[in-house]
Amino acid sequence: MSEVRKRKYLPEKYPLRPEVKDVDKDKLVKMLISAFADEVLAYYMYFTAAYAIKGHMSKRLESVFLDIAKDELDDHAKKLMDRLQDFDVDPPDFRDLWDLSKCKYPELPEDPYAVDEWLIAAVKAERCALEHYREIYDYVANKDPVTEEIIEEIMRDEVEHETIFKTLLSKEGMKKLEG
Ligand SMILES: [Fe+2]
Ligand SMILES: [Fe+2]
Repeated sequence: MSEVRKRKYLPEKYPLRPEVKDVDKDKLVKMLISAFADEVLAYYMYFTAAYAIKGHMSKRLESVFLDIAKDELDDHAKKLMDRLQDFDVDPPDFRDLWDLSKCKYPELPEDPYAVDEWLIAAVKAERCALEHYREIYDYVANKDPVTEEIIEEIMRDEVEHETIFKTLLSKEGMKKLEG
């Protein structure tokens, strides 16, 4: 995670949040901004995959990737930003998203027909997101019930996304993923 660069989106002072106990607000806000950046980049990765993948499964994959992309942006990124607004934090500069993101995203396959490769990249992105949310969850559990609930809801979706991508893998693709 890097520091604020181009535009000021953090408040001078965080507001008092009576529901938050024994939490370093600066640390919490940084974690949430990083997860927000992950979500925006995940949205873009899946949006790209939806259009880039070719071959006999491409229509089906287009709708799967677009549906999941929508979850990442309209649901997850929005929930995180809504929570950040409770701390008077605005969305960061678009140019900072890459640096702020923890997961960024895996190298995308060059071959548009290599469906398994695209799906494996997506499974890895979901696993990274889950690991990141687990870290945030561990930090806020029993200290910030509002954020805790949001992170729990998002994690449930990420587990489902991982499963959806995995079920679309071929037998060889599955072996490659777990091997
Ligand atoms: Fe997500
Ligand atoms: Fe996801």
